[in-house]
Amino acid sequence: MLATAIEGLAGAALVLDGRRRVRLATPAAVKLLGTKIPRGALVTELLCAGRTKRPLADALDAGQPVRAVIPMPGGPPGRLLHVRAIPHPTPRPRAFVLLLEAANESASDGPVLFHGMWTQDARMKEVFRVIERVAADDDTVLVRGETGSGKELVAGAIHALSARRKGPLRVINCAALPSNLLESELFGHVRGSFTGAHRDTPGHIQLAHKGTLFLDEVAELPLDVQAKLLRVLETHTVIPIGGRDPLPVDVRVVSATHRALRKEVEAGRFRADLLYRLRVIPIFLAPLRERPDDLGLLCDKLVLDMNPGRRRKIERVAPAALAILARHAWPGNVRELRNVLAYAYAMGDGPLLLPADLPPELLSPAVAAAPAARDETGEAPTAMSDDIARLRDALRRADGNRERAAAALGISRVTLWRRMREQGLLRQR
Ligand SMILES: Nc1ncnc2c1ncn2[C@@H]1O[C@H](COP(=O)(O)OP(=O)(O)OP(=O)(O)O)[C@@H](O)[C@H]1O
Ligand SMILES: [Mg+2]
Repeated sequence: MLATAIEGLAGAALVLDGRRRVRLATPAAVKLLGTKIPRGALVTELLCAGRTKRPLADALDAGQPVRAVIPMPGGPPGRLLHVRAIPHPTPRPRAFVLLLEAANESASDGPVLFHGMWTQDARMKEVFRVIERVAADDDTVLVRGETGSGKELVAGAIHALSARRKGPLRVINCAALPSNLLESELFGHVRGSFTGAHRDTPGHIQLAHKGTLFLDEVAELPLDVQAKLLRVLETHTVIPIGGRDPLPVDVRVVSATHRALRKEVEAGRFRADLLYRLRVIPIFLAPLRERPDDLGLLCDKLVLDMNPGRRRKIERVAPAALAILARHAWPGNVRELRNVLAYAYAMGDGPLLLPADLPPELLSPAVAAAPAARDETGEAPTAMSDDIARLRDALRRADGNRERAAAALGISRVTLWRRMREQGLLRQR
């Protein structure tokens, strides 16, 4: 009777006990998964093929809510399953209800444009559908992707599709400021709280009231700031630096990082409790080198965008040039592609983009690194082994001008600065 009632309310669902074992499966869940589900089956075996490092398995383990998209167990490649995990509000160990829903069969084969993002890649299209489904709710979203892969566009799309669209979208880059400044920017401060604090100043959190707060490069948050942020998320209030009274705030938090936050947690650099707070909806953006069909499409769309107002009008990319582009690893992803095209506008003539129009780095095999291997979470590591050499080389060519070096690498100035810091290329002061 219980199974029938749950099915009537929620369709395909699994009820788990505190040890992640299936106590009840509705008939629709059995049909959807296309397999017998023995009572007591371990849900990670059933849904994650025993892998414990997926965001879903990870959140279940921690007793935390999550909404994830995973490969359909036993299904053909490309079929996906939406899973919404709702923990029962008991003390640990937590029981769960999992609501399951098959993703639509890939709606169209052709290119789509979604809030400034072009793609014809099936995984990217699924990301767009996830964004459409989750935008209306206030659940936190964590976007992971390499530099230039569209993380900020995703944050913009979530805000634009939510009821908060009339409210503010505040962006703060957690990597760009030293700890004390970051704290004051985020939480605000009251008059007299430190030298130079001449008046009460609201922080980004308060300024995002009734809107969306986008925490870019969230992995770089110092641990003490992480603790304060966690408090804000738990209490929906903020206490400015030097202030006493908590002020109520109504914000939806979207964060982004190029790192695997779970690894940051394991290394002791990121709080596990904050990770689960921020990652109710995990979104992974595949790097451009893993979306081979998107390369030609993006070239076509980007030149349409870039032609107006330029001396040269590019109509087509010659197959030989496209072949060279396809060999490149694109560490700077779509931003880097845009910069390569900008170079081609300047260097060549005529409607056909030729190999000779491409920057020399693309023609030398040393830089066209092989696609990085995938780790066991199914996500590609972002670190490039030749990072230092590339950084040094770009800085040398740009006579040490970071702005130009960043442009040549197809990364933002902040990303360049961060990488220089990571690689020990910043002079210590
Ligand atoms: N799918 C896409 N279609 C068209 N343009 C794109 C797409 N993805 C990214 N871009 C463009 O590439 C550039 C980088 O995108 P964005 O700033 O969103 O990346 P990011 O992941 O936030 O990068 P970073 O980590 O360096 O901050 C922007 O100019 C954006 O408009
Ligand atoms: Mg960004």
